[in-house]
Amino acid sequence: MSPSGGRLEVPLLGNISPSLRVLSSRSSSWWGGVQMGPPDPILGVTEAFKRDTNPKKMNVGVGAYRDDQGKPFVLTSVRKAEAMIAAKQLDKEYLPIGGLGEFNKACAQLAFGENNEDLKSGRSVTVQSISGTGSLRIGASFLARFHGGPHDVYLPKPSWGNHTPIFRDAGMQLKAYRYYDPSTCGLDFKGAIEDISKMPEQSVILLHACAHNPTGVDPRPEQWKEISDVVKKRNLLVFFDMAYQGFASGDIDRDAWAVRYFIEKGHNILLSQSFAKNMGLYGERVGGFTVLCSDADEAKRVESQLKILIRPMYSNPPINGARIVTTILNTPDLRTLWLEEVHDMATRIIRMREHLVAGLKKEGSSHSWQHIVDQIGMFCFTGLKSEQVERLTKEFSVYMTKDGRISMAGVTSGNVGYLAQAIHAVTK
Ligand SMILES: Cc1ncc(COP(=O)(O)O)c(C=O)c1O
Repeated sequence: MSPSGGRLEVPLLGNISPSLRVLSSRSSSWWGGVQMGPPDPILGVTEAFKRDTNPKKMNVGVGAYRDDQGKPFVLTSVRKAEAMIAAKQLDKEYLPIGGLGEFNKACAQLAFGENNEDLKSGRSVTVQSISGTGSLRIGASFLARFHGGPHDVYLPKPSWGNHTPIFRDAGMQLKAYRYYDPSTCGLDFKGAIEDISKMPEQSVILLHACAHNPTGVDPRPEQWKEISDVVKKRNLLVFFDMAYQGFASGDIDRDAWAVRYFIEKGHNILLSQSFAKNMGLYGERVGGFTVLCSDADEAKRVESQLKILIRPMYSNPPINGARIVTTILNTPDLRTLWLEEVHDMATRIIRMREHLVAGLKKEGSSHSWQHIVDQIGMFCFTGLKSEQVERLTKEFSVYMTKDGRISMAGVTSGNVGYLAQAIHAVTK
């Protein structure tokens, strides 16, 4: 029987020539029941932007850094590392399932800090991943297979749009805790603490380590401390997503503060890292997934199971990005240069926040836009309503996601004035 439920009526083709029979059978449909899915909300914005012919058009939807000319930016430290790697004429053999050993070590050290005792003790395991997304997915699958507690993952409300499908597709259930307060465009700290206090013991809580996406709202150190206490009391399993180390403040150590504090306080965390943003290695797909275990023996067992999860997914990770990251992190001159470049990227973004607020004031806006400078990282949650976003796009060719999120990385000295003018026009 044909997959379309016998609609082909094959017996009637008895006296038709073999070539026609092939044609007819080719017209059968295996996927006739597949419905058209909605476009990706962020990539859909880019498609619409490309079609727009307005010379003033702006794309502030996508979370990729742009230089002050609005161009994609390749870091000099990356170019130099690539030249060093090319000069070595290395082979292109498969990496081990868990990735490049030197990379894993350097990646974990970047998060935990140099000379970290937990790393030295061997009780943590890191595997190279397909950037941050791949790392979260390995983590989600590991939880689905091995977590003995409830299979509920609590996400901040709102969270990065891909968190939900990543955990859901891996077989986890999604829950949420209050995080963002639209009335202040800041942290709903009281709401977050109340919700965390009620989470069933041993549930998984996802925390954005820094530069929360999409809101740009991070807890302050005293607030992190309180969150850590409540999480400890509830005996929750913490999954840190650190996709922007260095991008929030310009300082990799400052941005890793919450992760390091939680570890110091005895939380055996899961950690996802990405080098997409802080090294501009978006398309190289390089990141790391770390599990901090009770002891070295547990870490060895966890590592063996991570490999068993990874092997049928993609066998082993790509080599090029891992070599670039490792060369930068392990070559003192390149590392220093990279730290300067991360700092410069973060500073440019912070400057654009200030210029945008100044521009809005200059336009005569009477609203308080203080949250634009208070928020941190690549994104700014403007507080614009979806109708206002629609007007921005239709009348001013400013493209962004409907939730009012602006990628500050797409704002430049050349277009910040126009953006201020457009925002003022739709919020008057
Ligand atoms: C919060 C958060 N986590 C993870 C990622 C993963 O990004 P990638 O897979 O490109 O490293 C992103 C990217 O936008 C993000 O914003």
